[in-house]
Formats: sequence, C-alpha cells, structure tokens
Amino acid sequence: MDYRQLVAEAIHNELKDHLDLNEINNLLEKPKHAEHGDIAFPAFQLAKLFRKNPAQIAQELGDSITSPIISSVQVIGPYINFYLNKKSVSQAVINDVIKEKGHYGELSIGNGGNVPIDMSSPNIAKPMSMGHLRSTVIGNALSNILAKVGFSPIRINHLGDWGTQFGKLITAYKKWGNEEDVRSEPIKELLRLYVKFHDEAENDPSLEDEGRAWFRELESGNEEAVELWKWFRDESLKEFEKVYKRLNISFDSYNGEAFYNDKMSDVVSLLDEHKLLTVDQGAHIVNLDKYDLNPALIKKSDGATLYMTRDLAAALYRKDNYDFSQSLYVVGQEQSNHFKQLKAILKELDFDWADSIHHIPFGLITKDGKKLSTRKGKVVLLEEVLNEATAQALQQIEDKNPNLPDKEKVAEQVGVGAVVFHDLKNDRLNNFDFTIEEVVQFEGETGPYVQYTRARAMSILRKAGLESLSPSDAFALSDDYSWEVIKLLHDYPDTVRRAYENYEPSIIAKHAIQLAQTFNKFYANVRVLDEDPEKDARLALVFAITEILKEDLRILGVETPDEM
Ligand code: ARG
Repeated sequence: MDYRQLVAEAIHNELKDHLDLNEINNLLEKPKHAEHGDIAFPAFQLAKLFRKNPAQIAQELGDSITSPIISSVQVIGPYINFYLNKKSVSQAVINDVIKEKGHYGELSIGNGGNVPIDMSSPNIAKPMSMGHLRSTVIGNALSNILAKVGFSPIRINHLGDWGTQFGKLITAYKKWGNEEDVRSEPIKELLRLYVKFHDEAENDPSLEDEGRAWFRELESGNEEAVELWKWFRDESLKEFEKVYKRLNISFDSYNGEAFYNDKMSDVVSLLDEHKLLTVDQGAHIVNLDKYDLNPALIKKSDGATLYMTRDLAAALYRKDNYDFSQSLYVVGQEQSNHFKQLKAILKELDFDWADSIHHIPFGLITKDGKKLSTRKGKVVLLEEVLNEATAQALQQIEDKNPNLPDKEKVAEQVGVGAVVFHDLKNDRLNNFDFTIEEVVQFEGETGPYVQYTRARAMSILRKAGLESLSPSDAFALSDDYSWEVIKLLHDYPDTVRRAYENYEPSIIAKHAIQLAQTFNKFYANVRVLDEDPEKDARLALVFAITEILKEDLRILGVETPDEM
C-alpha cells in the first residue's frame, strides 16, 4: 500500500480538471510536526487557477475530500493536513511485509538492465587499504540496492595488476628477494621489496631504468617476467580472498588491468582514427582543453601504456560484453579527474553511452587520525582491523551474554558487521576517522546496535512462540508508538528508491538506525506480550520489524545473528 498515492487520488477526485495525479503527488508534503497530520497538501498552486486566495481554496477543498484511508482533515491557512486512518494503514503495511518478507520494497526501475560495478580493485603486491575497503563495501551495497530496484548488477574487481610498478617489483625481487619469504608472507614481503626499491632508487636512478625495462619485457610476454608476475598476482589474490570471505563478498569478474593488455593497440588505433592523438615529447596524449581538463596520457615515449589506456579498453569491453544500461566506478574522489578524462575521451570518440558512465566517489577514511600510505610502509592491514573489531565484539558478548551459544561466530558477525556498517552509515563523500571502540559499541548509531535490536525483537517472537505468520485482518494498530514504526515501514520502498537515485547506501543505514530506535521506543512503552485483543497485531508488527531490519542489513552486507 502507498498511502501517499491514495491521498493523491482522493485529492485528484476533486481536482480532476485542473491537476493530474502526478502533479498532486509531487505537491504532497510530509508535515514537520506530527501534530500537523501525516501528510499535507499546500494550496498555493491553485490560487491562480481558481482566482481565490489559497486559504479559502484549502478550506473548500478540505471539506470535500474523503477517502477510507483518511480519518480526518484539518485546514490551517493554505495547508490541508490529512490524518490517516491508522488502523487501515497499519493493517495494510503489516500484511504487505508478511506477504513479501525480504522482497518488500523491491521496485522495477531497472528493467533488468545490466550494470557493471567496478569495485574494490586493490593493487596486487600491496596490502588492501581502508580505501579499498570503502570501495568494496560501498560497491557491494550499491549492487544490492541496484538489484532491489530491478537492475542486474555485475560486480567487477578491476585489479591493479599491471603497470610499471611490476617492472620495479621484478627488479627488486631479482636483486633482494627469495621464493621462501614471498611464499610465507606474500603481501608483507612484496611490500618490503617495493619499499626497498624506492629507497634504493633515490641514490641509484639506474634502478628506475631497469624497472621500466622489466615492465617492457612483461608487456611483450617475456616468459620469466610473466611467470614472476603471475606468481605475485596469485599470492596476492589469495590474501585478498581472505578479506572478501570475511566480508561475504564475491565478484562476477576479476578482469583487472592486465586483462586489457592485448586490447591496447585497438584503443590506440581507435583514438588515432578519430584524430585525437597528439605527440608531446615522444608521448601520445589526448588534448582535453575543450573540457577544461588536463591532457590524458595514453602511451609513454617508451611505448608503455597507462592506467587510462586500460580504463578506455575496459569501458569499451564492458559496453560490448554487457551492453550496460549504466556503468559505475566506485573509486575514491581523488580519482575524479581521471574519470572526467575517461568520459571526455569516450565523448570525443562519439559514444553516446559515455553519459551512462558514472564515477561514484567517496571520501577518505583514516584510523586513529592516521592516513595510510603504502609507499612508506606505514600501513594498517585490513585484516588486523577486522580481527581487532571481532575481538572487541567477543569481549562485549562475554560481558553481556556469556552463555550465548556460538559466541565466536556471532563475534565475527558483529565485529565485521560493525566495521562495514560504520563505513556505510556516513554519507559516502564524507571523510571520517574511526576508532574500533566506537564502532563496535552496542549503543549509539552503530551496526551492533541495529543487530542487537533485531536480536531482541527475535527473542520476543521466540518468547511468544511465534514461528510463522500469515496475513490477517486483525493486524490493525492505532497507538502512537506503533504508528511511528508503521510509517517507517511504509516509507521503505521510497527509501530504497532514494538510496538508488543518490547511489547512497547511507540512506539505507540511516533507515535501519531509525527503525531500530523507533522499535526500542515502542518496546519501552507498549506491553507487547500482554494478553489483550491487540496482542497478535503487536507481534505481527514486531515480526515485520525483524524482517525489514534484516533486509536493511542484508543490503548493506551485514549479517544478522538471531541471538546475541
Ligand atoms: N587499482 C586502483 C587503485 O587502487 C583502483 C582502480 C579503480 N578502477 C578503475 N577502473 N580505474 O587506485
């Protein structure tokens, strides 16, 4: 049920000749104060049409509008305020959730269109950073949101597995590395070699030449180079997989930068055909003055291709392969210019689909005030962050509920969930700092708070012996505490739509927090398990809340223990 739509229809009955249903729907407002009703219609727009003042129109119109969904109408100045029939709205909303469960709130905006989502995309031979965590969890949540509104998301891990740095790494490995050390702690050892290379190169610039030479060998398929590169890549992927597994995230494709190596010459010829390439000190560039952007470097003077060249190839490949309706790139905002350049070049190539490419930027995340920098070797390993969070979650469980079965498993769900939720509840463009203690709290606007609230609601259902539920006319409630919950459940489809339109998972996270808070108020004020005629309806409401909290968290990629 959509009460906004029903109220719009009731108004439309009176205004048929003047405004269409959509116009009316768009004019409806949610009053800021609950005492002004549940939904309001301002009559300003009608003043010209009727040549009367808005207050007078509101008065006349207010007297004539009727609907079974409306319990009373109050006119204040130019506003018509509607009070809804709480019983029929609550009955319809609760039954909708009981019928649809996790499917409640699904929309059909996407028409099944494919949407590649470029996400996570860490760089081989380096630890996954907090920035990659953001890209991973935002990308995952967006994929779930897109699926919920009817698109077919395709999760792509565009691994940073190609580029001059691999020439440097091969050089460093051959000079200072050995097989055993790489095998035992791949990322740490590869990072050490990478850092050492940069330290040494400061005094010995010839190392840089050697690095470039090895990358050329790699690009042209030299067996030794390819073998080392493959090995570094495999070892790194194994490490990344550990994190993905804990986050419960999988990908549809791992086609990273290297995948496009054999597609470089096509890109260069295409640019050439369109007369877009100019040579600048031996390098090939695309001039983007027209777009107020710096020139994009396509090929270095030594023939090596670049990040941009590979992104062009990737964009073309994705269009060919997936025929996408839109294509998203969840990448930090420091790469905004890169994606502007990418779009501009695609436009210059006359691809009309360039406009369906969207960079989804996000802000910087720091831990305990520290920015992370791989080059200097000062790095917070994501795995360590997750371990720390899990350990603190376990501590809280020991304090609060020491007899809980499966403590370790729940601690993992809570600890990892806490980090993920915290990342997603902030508007994605915000920069923020975090400390584990704050993130894992069971109180406040945290993931564990939402999980804990849902677990409490589940325990009420267990106590009542409620296992399954079928729709019933008896599920009608009219008290104010229930009503606040009902409104949030009612608004869910609209919440999902806004999250999609803004590519903003925080809208879902905020809904979860609000629903949890509103449920806790309800629970503190209403005696749910008292034996009276409304008991079944209250339990049905609690059930509906557990379903939607679970769905909110599922979308965000956070698990929901039934007990904690
Ligand atoms: N590997 C890159 C980095 O860590 C991110 C890649 C983003 N995706 C892309 N298609 N450029 O900065």
